[in-house]
Amino acid sequence: MRAPRIRAAGGKLADVVRDGGGPVDVLALPVGSGDDGPQATVGVVEVAHLLGVDLEATFTRERFRGAEAEVVRVPWAPGPTSPNVERVVLVGVGRGEASSVRLAAAALARQHRGLDRMVTTLGSAGSAQARAMVEGFVLGSYTPPRSGVSEGPRPPLRRVDVVGRVATADLEQALVVAEAAVLARDLAQTPSSTKGPAWVAGRARRVAAEVGLTCTVRDHKQLRDQGFGGLLAVGGAAQRPPRLVELGYTPAETTARTPHVVLVGKGITFDTGGISLKPRESMISMKTDMTGAGVVLAVLKACAQLGVRARVTGLLPLAENAIGAGSYRPGDVVRHYGGTTTEIRNTDAEGRLVMADALAYADEHLDPDVVVDIATLTGAATQGLGRTHAALYANDDRLAAAFEQAGEASDERVWRMPLADDYRSAIASDVADVCQIATVKGVGGGSIIAALFLREFVGDRRWVHLDIAGTGRSERDAGVLSRGGTGYGVRLIVRWLEKLR
Ligand code: BES
Ligand code: MN
Ligand code: ZN
Repeated sequence: MRAPRIRAAGGKLADVVRDGGGPVDVLALPVGSGDDGPQATVGVVEVAHLLGVDLEATFTRERFRGAEAEVVRVPWAPGPTSPNVERVVLVGVGRGEASSVRLAAAALARQHRGLDRMVTTLGSAGSAQARAMVEGFVLGSYTPPRSGVSEGPRPPLRRVDVVGRVATADLEQALVVAEAAVLARDLAQTPSSTKGPAWVAGRARRVAAEVGLTCTVRDHKQLRDQGFGGLLAVGGAAQRPPRLVELGYTPAETTARTPHVVLVGKGITFDTGGISLKPRESMISMKTDMTGAGVVLAVLKACAQLGVRARVTGLLPLAENAIGAGSYRPGDVVRHYGGTTTEIRNTDAEGRLVMADALAYADEHLDPDVVVDIATLTGAATQGLGRTHAALYANDDRLAAAFEQAGEASDERVWRMPLADDYRSAIASDVADVCQIATVKGVGGGSIIAALFLREFVGDRRWVHLDIAGTGRSERDAGVLSRGGTGYGVRLIVRWLEKLR
């Protein structure tokens, strides 16, 4: 386990500090920022007094404002009043909102690797704060899996005791979500020398067995027999053939009104671009092009552990977009599951082809009330929205609003983009039902075009499409994110599912 163990310690901070319950490596005191400068909570004022720490003087000397995630160390040496406390820090929580608490916890986790025990009241202000605190500590502690013999970074902070009124249920539920996000990150960070389609399918099988999901995997032959032409075309050049994973979660109690949600995640285990080869620099990060699939697997796992009330099916179309004699080509026509045909113009626009098969399959066979797809689909999404907001498309305003709310609450934010009908004519084809990309130059709106393409395959289903090309990766360790694959979408989708009725 690579995350701190977080416990609700109960009682009062002053009491814990006085008799300790064992050595305290770090005492982290949350301080807000009010209109008149930093604002310590009552418990913190009391403890500072007990320790003989002059808070006001520390604020001034350190220019500490109480801004979210600001951390300063208070000059302190263990003395007679609290011989067990080794180190005291102030951590800013801004206005005390959950999003600030999440960032504060992540900052504390980052700065205290290698230590054993932290005592704090951070996260005790309410249920949302408690959950955010857990997410912050777990995700801020994240380091990608390493291979080799060299020593990695110091291990994460081992234990956090949270003093105050904190519900254990909140801690447990938040831990499930945070660990699911860690799973999605680990999958994204795994090198493609290790992960091919069958490897990811094997992981899905293992997770399904662990938490009690159903899992069926279609292999290459079954995909051929059943006409999944998009997956077969994209995966055609790779030595490791494609797979389609179908995961199922059914709540313990269902009624006729229990909604059925289908989640589809893009699972390109490496994207060279194929014959329309990517420039070398753009290819470096393409092991993370299966982030959508990893997120869907992680969400299904969390669904089972949380016992969400919806029925959820996860589809993972998995393929490696390699280059070779078996490559599909610009000019080819691909026949998707269900019969719709696509004219190929750029083999690097492969994600939409494998997604199309899965979406058509969901519409034809699974009778979903809502379809949600998530994909590292277009560089254009990154161009337009950067790395903090995913592009969201929806054919239903209430559904879009529910996702926007879940985005705020989870701090995995979305920005709604238009399914602009004006651009539909750009993907008309002379030789097939639809063209994979715009047939004329200068249309722009690459993320919108991709969304319009996917819309051709969802029938009349209520549908959300998340283009996470920007949010799926981070360039640096910052906030709750670590450099590389972020597993973006786990917190967002779980949050949305929890609120779904
Ligand atoms: N996987 C890429 C999109 C991507 C780019 C994700 C950068 C993360 C970071 C996708 O398969 C792709 O190559 N898209 C093309 C589409 C184009 C050829 C129409 C793109 O965005 O350039
Ligand atoms: Mn591509
Ligand atoms: Zn791709």
